[in-house]
Amino acid sequence: MKRIVVLNGPNLNLLGNREVSVYGTDSLKDMENSLQKLAHTKNISVDFFQSNHEGDIIDWLHESNKEDTLGIILNPGAFTHYSYAIRDAVAAIQPPVVEVHISNVHARESFRHQSVIAPVCKGQILGFGLKGYDLAFQSFF
Ligand code: DQA
Repeated sequence: MKRIVVLNGPNLNLLGNREVSVYGTDSLKDMENSLQKLAHTKNISVDFFQSNHEGDIIDWLHESNKEDTLGIILNPGAFTHYSYAIRDAVAAIQPPVVEVHISNVHARESFRHQSVIAPVCKGQILGFGLKGYDLAFQSFF
């Protein structure tokens, strides 16, 4: 069975409580439930990981570099804006990676306007709230 891997970076474990005016009141668990339903309709599996540590995200990208991985949905959180190490890990692996942001980073502080990771991704989806994860999922079909 093919799988899709969903990786969430720092502070995303706090979704639902964190800056609700920016990120909304839905939690990471709500996003997972929604993707599980979609996965069921496509007969594939989904693996979810969240970490506040850069190295963990890199390790999971490496672990996902397998034939059975159809694609990776990655929200690197603030690492988006400066982690060359995550960028290099994305560039090093085979499965396509779609970068997701819940908020419209271009409507926020200027340090959020640049992603050092997006250039090595298949695409980027941002500003649609948690629905962005569903849209990223659909992009693999
Ligand atoms: C974010 C945007 C980042 O700038 C921020 O650091 C996050 C969340 C988003 O999903 O909108 O932690 O990746």
